[in-house]
Amino acid sequence: MKYKLIIISTFLLAFFGACKYEYIDITAKQENDSIIVDSSTLISYSNDILPIINSNCLSCHSGAQPPNLSTFDGVKANADAIKSATSSRYMPRGSRLSDKEIILIALWVEQGANNN
Ligand code: HEC
Repeated sequence: MKYKLIIISTFLLAFFGACKYEYIDITAKQENDSIIVDSSTLISYSNDILPIINSNCLSCHSGAQPPNLSTFDGVKANADAIKSATSSRYMPRGSRLSDKEIILIALWVEQGANNN
């Protein structure tokens, strides 16, 4: 019985530990991490977001693989999906964004996903 409990709790710990590590908690990151963007900063599509998309997403999402992120309209139309796919580290496939890049994307989407 004792053994069973130990095995189960080890499993749970590993499982939830992994989730916690993989999922970026944006609020906590902003509170704890001085390098992270202040949420009152206005994020710019052309200066902050476009370079992230260009170097991390377009190798796959410029046509054949939906969503097509090669135009502003394509990015705007998929803004919420982009925010959740990057915050959960589901995207980009095969590489990783920095915490800062993930937070820039999330803030830009929360600020209205404007072409600024
Ligand atoms: C190496 C190829 C590759 C790269 C690079 C890549 N993606 Fe994807 N992406 C895919 C594939 C394949 C799918 C569809 C299959 C799936 O959902 O797993 C997908 C699906 C998506 C979806 C839809 C997810 C859903 O919930 O349906 C979004 C949004 C997305 N990608 C955003 C991005 C963003 C933003 C980047 C860059 C930060 C990126 N992807 C980089 C291959 C890639």
